[in-house]
Parts: sequence; structure tokens; C-alpha cells
Amino acid sequence: MTPWPYARVFAHRCGGVLAPENTLAGLEVASRYATGVEFDVMLSASGTPVLIHDETLERTTNGSGRVAQTSDARLRELDAGSWRDARFAGERIPTLDEVARQCLVRGLDVNLEIKPSDGQDEVTARVAALSASALWRGAASLPLLSSFSETALRVAAELAPELPRGLLVGAIPLDWHERCRALGAVALHADARTLTREQARGVLDAGWWLVVYTENDPARARMLFDWGVNCIITDHPELVAEG
Ligand code: G3P
Ligand code: CA
Repeated sequence: MTPWPYARVFAHRCGGVLAPENTLAGLEVASRYATGVEFDVMLSASGTPVLIHDETLERTTNGSGRVAQTSDARLRELDAGSWRDARFAGERIPTLDEVARQCLVRGLDVNLEIKPSDGQDEVTARVAALSASALWRGAASLPLLSSFSETALRVAAELAPELPRGLLVGAIPLDWHERCRALGAVALHADARTLTREQARGVLDAGWWLVVYTENDPARARMLFDWGVNCIITDHPELVAEG
């Protein structure tokens, strides 16, 4: 297997719990501690790829309703920072374009999770993959695309085959190998809570890279690296050291 080409620690949703998730403030905080960031990309009602995790606005903004039914103009008005801490008041939901530029300037490796709203797997993957392909064209480090949606990964493979892909799963399914092969995925992204040493060995010995999420305990992170895990996504990039 070729060596893992990315950072070994990725900050989850940009800044983990140190800053509002999926924001430029998060990216700035993450870059103090990690050289890789994971974030979630969804489409607004205007069809723009933006960074947000939930399909609805309530948890991480002062707005309400569905992201997929909210225009760019309205999204730009929302405060996506105060829910985390008053010092982040006024932080906005960023577009993928804005975030890509910052990642390139800061030299951050990227795990771009395609996070479709219900029923929007194909269109979200199309826009995210084509945008990422254009934004990172010629870059030294291309974003690793991942998704729980196999439809999204298939579309990304078709439209931006040069961008590597990882299949996101919870507990590792028995047929992970067939699914990764069919998708042309180079990595399996698995839930750290249920991963066993034997499973990790099985994935690595079969020739796939193994990324785990979301590990926040430094001792367990060291153990996962000892097992051979290539990359850990964490809410605490200030605590989890590259193993
Ligand atoms: O990509 C790993 C992790 O981010 C997947 O879960 O729900 O935090 O997007 P979630
Ligand atoms: Ca994610």
C-alpha cells in the first residue's frame, strides 16, 4: 500500500469543539493544531455548496427551517457562531469556495464530506465534486471526498475521478470490501467507537487506507495509531497528537 499522503489528524467539522463547526473561524482555530480538516458540504436552495452538518438550521444558527429550502441571501444573514460562544457572534455559514481558498492558503489537507439533504444525493455530489475539482485544480494536496451516500460517491467518481474517495460507514459492514471496490474508494472511514484491532488489520491488510472518526481521547488515539489506523478525525485537535 502506498503511504498515507495526508495529515494524520483531521479537525472534525473544521475546528472540532474549539470553535463553531463548519465555519471559517473553525478553520482558523484548527490550523493552529492540525494540518488537516474535515467538513460537511450541503446545497442551499440556490444550489450553492455551503458548509453545514444538519439538514436544518436550528442547532448551529439563529435561523430555522431546512438548508435545502433556504436561499444564499438568507443564509448569509444568519449567525452561525453564537451557539458555540458569544465571542464567535456574527460568524457566517461559509461557501465551499470561501473555505477552499482558506485551506489552500493555509496549506491544509481536506476531507470533504458530501452531506446531501434528503433526496439530493446526486445533485449535491455533482456540485461538490465539480466545485472541488475546479477549486483544487493543480493543488499539491487534493481533497479526499467521503460520504455515507454511495450514490454520491458514484457520481463523484464519474465527474471528478482524479479526487480520491472514502466510503463512510458506522460499524464496519461485512461487505465493506466489495462496496469500496465497486466505488473505487481508496479509504474506509469507520466509527472509532466500534472498531476492533482485528477489523483495522483486515482493512489495512486488504490494501485500503483506514480513517476513523470521531476520536477525542488521546490515549485511545495513540492505541488506534498503534493498530495502524492512518488518520484520526477529532473534535480535539489540540489534544490528539499525530501518532
Ligand atoms: O467524516 C466523519 C464524520 O464527520 C462523520 O460524521 O455526522 O460528524 O458528519 P458526522
Ligand atoms: Ca462530517
